[in-house]
Amino acid sequence: MSEKSLRLFYALWPNKDVRVKLQQLQQHTRGRYTRPENLHITLAFLGQQAAETLPQLQNILAGLPYCDFSLSIDRLGYFKKNRIAWAGMKDIPEPLFTFQKNLVQSLDAAGIAFDSGNRFKPHVTLAREADPPLDTSFDPIVWQAAQTTLVQSTQMDGILTYRVLASHSPATST
Ligand code: 2AM
Repeated sequence: MSEKSLRLFYALWPNKDVRVKLQQLQQHTRGRYTRPENLHITLAFLGQQAAETLPQLQNILAGLPYCDFSLSIDRLGYFKKNRIAWAGMKDIPEPLFTFQKNLVQSLDAAGIAFDSGNRFKPHVTLAREADPPLDTSFDPIVWQAAQTTLVQSTQMDGILTYRVLASHSPATST
């Protein structure tokens, strides 16, 4: 590991409309809310990576197909062990699994280490140190998945900040 390393992950990034609707779901729980600008679905958590692997990680992102499937966020759930309240899907579309599998296979092929410990459970973390969501009825949020991102998790002035380092979507590919 070089001296400079970054804490990184790949994510599906919501657009502004979806982000606002996800934020509204936070009222269904109590806890330490995710800052609205941080709301996302993690696809693969890489943890600390040497800064010089960034170009390779950006290439992997750019080599993914564009995602063009729709997610229906229609379920609130709770990870009891970690006390995480989350939003997710009753029926997870197969193309999302295929897309995520494609990504982790690319990481494997490139010899990039990532957290492969848990089965992929796509979710948006709404709050940590949270109580289980109570009233779980709400209008489903339609999330037309388009933007896949490589994100740095960092602290800025003591605030957990997710910086999008690269983005892959039909509209903008950096
Ligand atoms: P989450 O997906 O449950 O919210 C950055 O830390 C993001 O990567 C968060 O969204 C976090 O949890 C997710 N993540 C997945 N595996 C992780 C791990 N082993 N350590 C820290 N964060 C992880």
